[in-house]
Amino acid sequence: MSINQSKILITGGAGFLGSHLTERLLREGNDVLVVDNFFTGNKQNLAHLMGNPNLEIMRHDVTFPLYVEVNQIYNLACPASPVHYQYDPVQTTKTSVHGVINMLGLAKRTRARILQASTSEVYGDPEVHPQPEGYWGRVNPIGIRSCYDEGKRCAETLFFAANTINLLDRQVLGILASDLQKKIGWNEIQYGYIVSAFQLSYAIGMAVVGRILDSIGTRLGYTLTILLWSLASMAHAFVGTPMGFGLARVFLGLSESGNFPAAIKATSEWFPAHERSIVAGIINAGSNMGVIVAALLVPFLTIQFGWQATIS
Ligand SMILES: NC(=O)c1ccc[n+]([C@@H]2O[C@H](COP(=O)([O-])OP(=O)(O)OC[C@H]3O[C@@H](n4cnc5c(N)ncnc54)[C@H](O)[C@@H]3O)[C@@H](O)[C@H]2O)c1
Repeated sequence: MSINQSKILITGGAGFLGSHLTERLLREGNDVLVVDNFFTGNKQNLAHLMGNPNLEIMRHDVTFPLYVEVNQIYNLACPASPVHYQYDPVQTTKTSVHGVINMLGLAKRTRARILQASTSEVYGDPEVHPQPEGYWGRVNPIGIRSCYDEGKRCAETLFFAANTINLLDRQVLGILASDLQKKIGWNEIQYGYIVSAFQLSYAIGMAVVGRILDSIGTRLGYTLTILLWSLASMAHAFVGTPMGFGLARVFLGLSESGNFPAAIKATSEWFPAHERSIVAGIINAGSNMGVIVAALLVPFLTIQFGWQATIS
Protein backbone atom coordinates (compact mmCIF):
# COMPACT_ATOMS: atom_id res chain seq x y z
CA MET A 1 0.00 0.00 0.00
CA SER A 2 1.40 3.40 -0.93
CA ILE A 3 1.39 6.21 1.64
CA ASN A 4 -1.31 8.16 -0.27
CA GLN A 5 -3.56 5.18 -0.96
CA SER A 6 -6.90 5.17 0.88
CA LYS A 7 -7.37 2.33 3.32
CA ILE A 8 -11.11 1.64 3.28
CA LEU A 9 -13.10 -0.54 5.64
CA ILE A 10 -16.36 -2.03 4.35
CA THR A 11 -18.42 -3.76 7.02
CA GLY A 12 -20.86 -6.22 5.49
CA GLY A 13 -18.60 -6.21 2.44
CA ALA A 14 -19.49 -9.80 1.50
CA GLY A 15 -23.18 -8.93 1.09
CA PHE A 16 -25.13 -7.84 -1.97
CA LEU A 17 -24.28 -4.11 -1.88
CA GLY A 18 -20.95 -4.53 -0.10
CA SER A 19 -19.45 -6.91 -2.66
CA HIS A 20 -20.26 -4.54 -5.53
CA LEU A 21 -18.87 -1.61 -3.58
CA THR A 22 -15.71 -3.61 -2.84
CA GLU A 23 -15.28 -4.32 -6.55
CA ARG A 24 -15.70 -0.64 -7.44
CA LEU A 25 -13.32 0.67 -4.77
CA LEU A 26 -10.65 -1.88 -5.70
CA ARG A 27 -11.01 -0.91 -9.35
CA GLU A 28 -10.32 2.70 -8.32
CA GLY A 29 -7.02 1.56 -6.79
CA ASN A 30 -7.94 1.64 -3.09
CA ASP A 31 -6.82 -0.71 -0.37
CA VAL A 32 -9.99 -2.41 0.90
CA LEU A 33 -10.58 -4.28 4.14
CA VAL A 34 -13.84 -6.28 4.14
CA VAL A 35 -15.18 -7.18 7.56
CA ASP A 36 -18.12 -9.59 7.66
CA ASN A 37 -19.54 -12.31 9.91
CA PHE A 38 -20.94 -14.06 6.81
CA PHE A 39 -24.43 -14.28 8.29
CA THR A 40 -26.11 -13.38 4.98
CA GLY A 41 -23.03 -12.53 2.96
CA ASN A 42 -20.89 -15.07 1.21
CA LYS A 43 -17.20 -15.40 0.32
CA GLN A 44 -18.36 -16.46 -3.15
CA ASN A 45 -19.52 -12.87 -3.71
CA LEU A 46 -15.87 -11.81 -3.45
CA ALA A 47 -14.28 -14.90 -5.03
CA HIS A 48 -13.45 -13.11 -8.29
CA LEU A 49 -11.57 -10.40 -6.34
CA MET A 50 -9.52 -12.64 -4.05
CA GLY A 51 -6.39 -12.49 -6.19
CA ASN A 52 -6.25 -8.71 -5.77
CA PRO A 53 -3.38 -7.80 -3.38
CA ASN A 54 -5.30 -4.70 -2.25
CA LEU A 55 -8.13 -6.78 -0.79
CA GLU A 56 -8.14 -8.16 2.73
CA ILE A 57 -11.09 -10.12 4.19
CA MET A 58 -11.68 -10.53 7.91
CA ARG A 59 -14.34 -12.64 9.64
CA HIS A 60 -15.61 -10.40 12.43
CA ASP A 61 -18.91 -9.43 14.02
CA VAL A 62 -19.29 -5.62 14.24
CA THR A 63 -21.08 -5.90 17.57
CA PHE A 64 -17.57 -6.42 18.98
CA PRO A 65 -14.93 -3.67 18.93
CA LEU A 66 -12.53 -3.61 16.01
CA TYR A 67 -9.01 -2.18 16.10
CA VAL A 68 -7.72 -1.44 12.60
CA GLU A 69 -6.18 1.61 10.90
CA VAL A 70 -8.35 3.06 8.12
CA ASN A 71 -9.18 6.43 6.54
CA GLN A 72 -12.72 5.64 5.38
CA ILE A 73 -15.49 3.40 6.68
CA TYR A 74 -18.60 2.21 4.86
CA ASN A 75 -20.86 0.66 7.50
CA LEU A 76 -23.17 -1.71 5.60
CA ALA A 77 -23.22 -4.62 8.06
CA CYS A 78 -26.81 -5.61 8.78
CA PRO A 79 -29.07 -8.28 7.33
CA ALA A 80 -31.39 -6.45 4.95
CA SER A 81 -34.18 -8.87 4.06
CA PRO A 82 -37.06 -9.58 6.52
CA VAL A 83 -36.47 -13.30 6.62
CA HIS A 84 -32.86 -12.73 7.71
CA TYR A 85 -33.29 -9.83 10.13
CA GLN A 86 -36.23 -11.53 11.84
CA TYR A 87 -34.22 -14.74 12.34
CA ASP A 88 -32.54 -13.25 15.44
CA PRO A 89 -34.14 -9.88 16.24
CA VAL A 90 -31.84 -9.19 19.20
CA GLN A 91 -28.71 -9.76 17.11
CA THR A 92 -30.19 -7.54 14.34
CA THR A 93 -30.77 -4.70 16.81
CA LYS A 94 -27.29 -5.17 18.27
CA THR A 95 -25.76 -5.06 14.80
CA SER A 96 -27.28 -1.63 14.16
CA VAL A 97 -26.73 -0.19 17.65
CA HIS A 98 -23.54 -1.79 19.03
CA GLY A 99 -22.16 -2.04 15.52
CA VAL A 100 -22.59 1.69 14.93
CA ILE A 101 -21.18 2.57 18.36
CA ASN A 102 -18.10 0.49 17.53
CA MET A 103 -17.74 1.98 14.05
CA LEU A 104 -18.19 5.55 15.28
CA GLY A 105 -15.58 4.86 17.95
CA LEU A 106 -13.21 3.52 15.31
CA ALA A 107 -13.89 6.53 13.06
CA LYS A 108 -13.18 8.86 15.95
CA ARG A 109 -9.91 7.15 16.91
CA THR A 110 -8.61 6.91 13.35
CA ARG A 111 -10.22 10.22 12.26
CA ALA A 112 -11.76 8.33 9.35
CA ARG A 113 -14.75 9.49 7.31
CA ILE A 114 -17.73 7.22 7.82
CA LEU A 115 -20.84 6.40 5.82
CA GLN A 116 -23.85 4.62 7.32
CA ALA A 117 -26.24 2.57 5.19
CA SER A 118 -29.63 3.53 6.56
CA THR A 119 -32.99 2.63 5.06
CA SER A 120 -36.39 4.10 4.25
CA GLU A 121 -37.69 1.60 6.83
CA VAL A 122 -36.78 4.19 9.50
CA TYR A 123 -40.14 5.80 8.57
CA GLY A 124 -41.95 2.60 9.56
CA ASP A 125 -45.32 2.28 7.83
CA PRO A 126 -45.49 5.87 6.57
CA GLU A 127 -48.60 7.93 5.88
CA VAL A 128 -46.70 10.16 3.43
CA HIS A 129 -45.17 9.17 0.07
CA PRO A 130 -42.45 9.97 -0.78
CA GLN A 131 -41.14 10.83 2.68
CA PRO A 132 -39.43 14.22 3.04
CA GLU A 133 -36.44 14.48 5.43
CA GLY A 134 -38.62 16.37 7.94
CA TYR A 135 -41.11 13.48 8.26
CA TRP A 136 -40.62 11.57 11.53
CA GLY A 137 -42.33 8.38 10.51
CA ARG A 138 -44.96 6.04 11.89
CA VAL A 139 -43.00 3.30 13.58
CA ASN A 140 -44.05 0.39 15.73
CA PRO A 141 -41.52 -0.61 18.42
CA ILE A 142 -43.03 -4.10 18.82
CA GLY A 143 -43.91 -4.95 15.23
CA ILE A 144 -42.30 -7.79 13.30
CA ARG A 145 -39.94 -5.39 11.48
CA SER A 146 -39.07 -3.34 14.57
CA CYS A 147 -35.66 -4.97 15.21
CA TYR A 148 -34.54 -3.63 11.84
CA ASP A 149 -36.45 -0.32 11.80
CA GLU A 150 -35.69 0.71 15.39
CA GLY A 151 -32.08 -0.42 15.13
CA LYS A 152 -31.57 1.73 12.04
CA ARG A 153 -33.36 4.66 13.72
CA CYS A 154 -31.06 4.39 16.72
CA ALA A 155 -28.09 4.22 14.34
CA GLU A 156 -29.22 7.55 12.84
CA THR A 157 -29.54 9.02 16.33
CA LEU A 158 -26.00 7.88 17.15
CA PHE A 159 -24.62 9.43 13.97
CA PHE A 160 -26.45 12.69 14.65
CA ALA A 161 -25.26 12.82 18.24
CA ALA A 162 -21.66 12.02 17.31
CA ASN A 163 -21.75 14.84 14.78
CA THR A 164 -23.18 17.51 17.02
CA ILE A 165 -21.27 16.99 20.25
CA ASN A 166 -17.96 17.98 18.71
CA LEU A 167 -17.88 21.73 19.12
CA LEU A 168 -15.44 24.24 17.70
CA ASP A 169 -12.34 24.01 19.88
CA ARG A 170 -12.56 20.23 20.04
CA GLN A 171 -12.62 20.26 16.26
CA VAL A 172 -9.47 22.38 16.13
CA LEU A 173 -7.50 19.72 18.00
CA GLY A 174 -8.92 16.98 15.76
CA ILE A 175 -7.97 18.83 12.60
CA LEU A 176 -4.48 19.79 13.81
CA ALA A 177 -3.78 16.48 15.59
CA SER A 178 -1.52 14.86 13.01
CA ASP A 179 0.53 18.05 12.62
CA LEU A 180 0.82 18.57 16.36
CA GLN A 181 1.78 14.93 16.86
CA LYS A 182 4.97 15.60 14.89
CA LYS A 183 5.72 18.89 16.69
CA ILE A 184 4.89 17.93 20.26
CA GLY A 185 5.68 14.24 19.86
CA TRP A 186 2.78 12.53 21.59
CA ASN A 187 2.00 8.88 20.94
CA GLU A 188 -1.48 7.34 20.42
CA ILE A 189 -1.92 6.61 24.14
CA GLN A 190 -0.87 10.11 25.18
CA TYR A 191 -3.24 11.57 22.57
CA GLY A 192 -6.04 9.49 24.11
CA TYR A 193 -5.18 10.96 27.54
CA ILE A 194 -5.12 14.48 26.09
CA VAL A 195 -8.61 14.07 24.57
CA SER A 196 -9.93 12.48 27.78
CA ALA A 197 -8.37 15.26 29.90
CA PHE A 198 -10.66 17.76 28.21
CA GLN A 199 -13.78 15.58 28.49
CA LEU A 200 -13.19 14.78 32.16
CA SER A 201 -12.47 18.34 33.24
CA TYR A 202 -15.47 19.56 31.20
CA ALA A 203 -17.73 17.07 32.99
CA ILE A 204 -16.34 18.02 36.43
CA GLY A 205 -16.62 21.73 35.60
CA MET A 206 -20.26 21.31 34.52
CA ALA A 207 -21.09 19.77 37.87
CA VAL A 208 -19.80 22.74 39.91
CA VAL A 209 -19.89 25.81 37.69
CA GLY A 210 -23.67 26.36 37.85
CA ARG A 211 -23.47 26.87 41.62
CA ILE A 212 -20.66 29.43 41.20
CA LEU A 213 -22.64 31.32 38.53
CA ASP A 214 -25.70 31.42 40.76
CA SER A 215 -23.70 32.97 43.57
CA ILE A 216 -21.65 35.56 41.63
CA GLY A 217 -24.31 36.50 39.05
CA THR A 218 -24.56 36.26 35.28
CA ARG A 219 -22.64 39.38 34.23
CA LEU A 220 -19.53 38.65 36.32
CA GLY A 221 -19.86 34.90 35.73
CA TYR A 222 -20.02 35.19 31.94
CA THR A 223 -17.14 37.69 31.87
CA LEU A 224 -14.94 35.40 33.96
CA THR A 225 -15.90 32.38 31.84
CA ILE A 226 -14.87 34.11 28.62
CA LEU A 227 -11.67 35.48 30.19
CA LEU A 228 -10.57 32.10 31.56
CA TRP A 229 -11.56 30.29 28.36
CA SER A 230 -9.49 32.74 26.28
CA LEU A 231 -6.46 32.30 28.58
CA ALA A 232 -6.87 28.50 28.38
CA SER A 233 -6.95 28.61 24.58
CA MET A 234 -3.82 30.80 24.51
CA ALA A 235 -2.03 28.49 26.95
CA HIS A 236 -1.93 25.81 24.22
CA ALA A 237 0.48 27.95 22.21
CA PHE A 238 3.08 27.99 25.02
CA VAL A 239 3.35 24.28 25.75
CA GLY A 240 5.86 21.95 24.15
CA THR A 241 5.25 18.60 25.83
CA PRO A 242 2.35 16.11 25.89
CA MET A 243 1.97 16.73 29.64
CA GLY A 244 1.82 20.52 29.14
CA PHE A 245 -0.72 20.06 26.36
CA GLY A 246 -2.85 17.83 28.58
CA LEU A 247 -2.83 20.48 31.34
CA ALA A 248 -3.90 23.13 28.82
CA ARG A 249 -6.81 20.84 27.82
CA VAL A 250 -7.82 20.46 31.49
CA PHE A 251 -7.82 24.26 31.87
CA LEU A 252 -9.85 24.60 28.64
CA GLY A 253 -12.40 21.97 29.74
CA LEU A 254 -12.91 23.62 33.14
CA SER A 255 -13.32 27.11 31.68
CA GLU A 256 -15.51 26.00 28.77
CA SER A 257 -17.90 24.24 31.12
CA GLY A 258 -19.09 27.68 32.22
CA ASN A 259 -20.36 28.57 28.77
CA PHE A 260 -23.65 26.67 28.58
CA PRO A 261 -24.85 27.32 32.16
CA ALA A 262 -23.99 31.03 31.73
CA ALA A 263 -25.74 31.20 28.35
CA ILE A 264 -28.90 29.55 29.72
CA LYS A 265 -28.93 31.81 32.78
CA ALA A 266 -28.41 34.90 30.62
CA THR A 267 -31.24 33.81 28.31
CA SER A 268 -33.70 33.46 31.17
CA GLU A 269 -32.70 36.79 32.74
CA TRP A 270 -32.44 39.01 29.68
CA PHE A 271 -35.12 37.70 27.34
CA PRO A 272 -38.91 37.57 27.80
CA ALA A 273 -40.42 34.07 28.06
CA HIS A 274 -41.84 34.12 24.52
CA GLU A 275 -38.36 34.69 22.98
CA ARG A 276 -36.28 32.20 25.02
CA SER A 277 -36.73 29.25 22.66
CA ILE A 278 -35.47 31.33 19.72
CA VAL A 279 -32.43 32.43 21.71
CA ALA A 280 -31.69 28.87 22.88
CA GLY A 281 -31.95 27.74 19.25
CA ILE A 282 -29.54 30.44 18.10
CA ILE A 283 -27.02 29.51 20.83
CA ASN A 284 -27.06 25.85 19.75
CA ALA A 285 -27.02 26.69 16.06
CA GLY A 286 -23.94 28.85 16.71
CA SER A 287 -22.12 25.96 18.38
CA ASN A 288 -22.88 23.64 15.51
CA MET A 289 -21.90 26.22 12.91
CA GLY A 290 -18.55 26.30 14.70
CA VAL A 291 -17.92 22.73 13.57
CA ILE A 292 -18.40 23.68 9.92
CA VAL A 293 -16.44 26.92 10.19
CA ALA A 294 -13.56 25.13 11.95
CA ALA A 295 -13.16 22.62 9.14
CA LEU A 296 -12.91 25.47 6.62
CA LEU A 297 -10.90 27.93 8.66
CA VAL A 298 -8.37 25.89 10.65
CA PRO A 299 -6.25 24.62 7.73
CA PHE A 300 -6.18 28.14 6.23
CA LEU A 301 -5.20 29.82 9.51
CA THR A 302 -2.54 27.18 10.21
CA ILE A 303 -0.87 27.78 6.85
CA GLN A 304 -1.09 31.58 7.23
CA PHE A 305 -0.22 32.04 10.91
CA GLY A 306 1.04 28.69 12.31
CA TRP A 307 -0.60 26.28 14.76
CA GLN A 308 0.13 28.34 17.89
CA ALA A 309 -1.87 31.32 16.62
CA THR A 310 -4.64 29.07 15.28
CA ILE A 311 -5.21 27.05 18.41
CA SER A 312 -5.12 30.09 20.68
N1 LIG B 1 -30.49 -3.87 -0.48
C1 LIG B 1 -31.32 -2.87 -0.31
O1 LIG B 1 -32.24 -2.62 -1.11
C2 LIG B 1 -31.14 -1.94 0.87
C3 LIG B 1 -32.06 -0.90 1.05
C4 LIG B 1 -31.89 -0.04 2.12
C5 LIG B 1 -30.83 -0.22 2.99
N2 LIG B 1 -29.96 -1.25 2.81
C6 LIG B 1 -28.88 -1.40 3.77
O2 LIG B 1 -27.66 -1.62 3.08
C7 LIG B 1 -26.84 -2.53 3.81
C8 LIG B 1 -26.43 -3.69 2.91
O3 LIG B 1 -27.59 -4.31 2.40
P1 LIG B 1 -27.51 -5.62 1.48
O4 LIG B 1 -28.72 -5.63 0.65
O5 LIG B 1 -26.17 -5.68 0.84
O6 LIG B 1 -27.67 -6.75 2.60
P2 LIG B 1 -26.91 -8.14 2.73
O7 LIG B 1 -27.67 -8.95 3.73
O8 LIG B 1 -26.67 -8.76 1.38
O9 LIG B 1 -25.51 -7.70 3.32
C9 LIG B 1 -25.31 -7.43 4.67
C10 LIG B 1 -23.94 -7.96 5.05
O10 LIG B 1 -23.72 -7.66 6.43
C11 LIG B 1 -23.16 -8.84 7.03
N3 LIG B 1 -23.49 -8.75 8.46
C12 LIG B 1 -24.70 -8.83 9.04
N4 LIG B 1 -24.58 -8.70 10.37
C13 LIG B 1 -23.26 -8.51 10.61
C14 LIG B 1 -22.49 -8.31 11.79
N5 LIG B 1 -23.07 -8.29 13.02
N6 LIG B 1 -21.16 -8.18 11.70
C15 LIG B 1 -20.55 -8.22 10.48
N7 LIG B 1 -21.22 -8.41 9.32
C16 LIG B 1 -22.56 -8.54 9.41
C17 LIG B 1 -23.83 -9.98 6.33
O11 LIG B 1 -23.14 -11.22 6.47
C18 LIG B 1 -23.83 -9.47 4.90
O12 LIG B 1 -22.63 -9.79 4.24
C19 LIG B 1 -27.64 -2.97 5.03
O13 LIG B 1 -27.23 -2.21 6.14
C20 LIG B 1 -29.05 -2.64 4.65
O14 LIG B 1 -29.83 -2.37 5.78
C21 LIG B 1 -30.11 -2.12 1.76
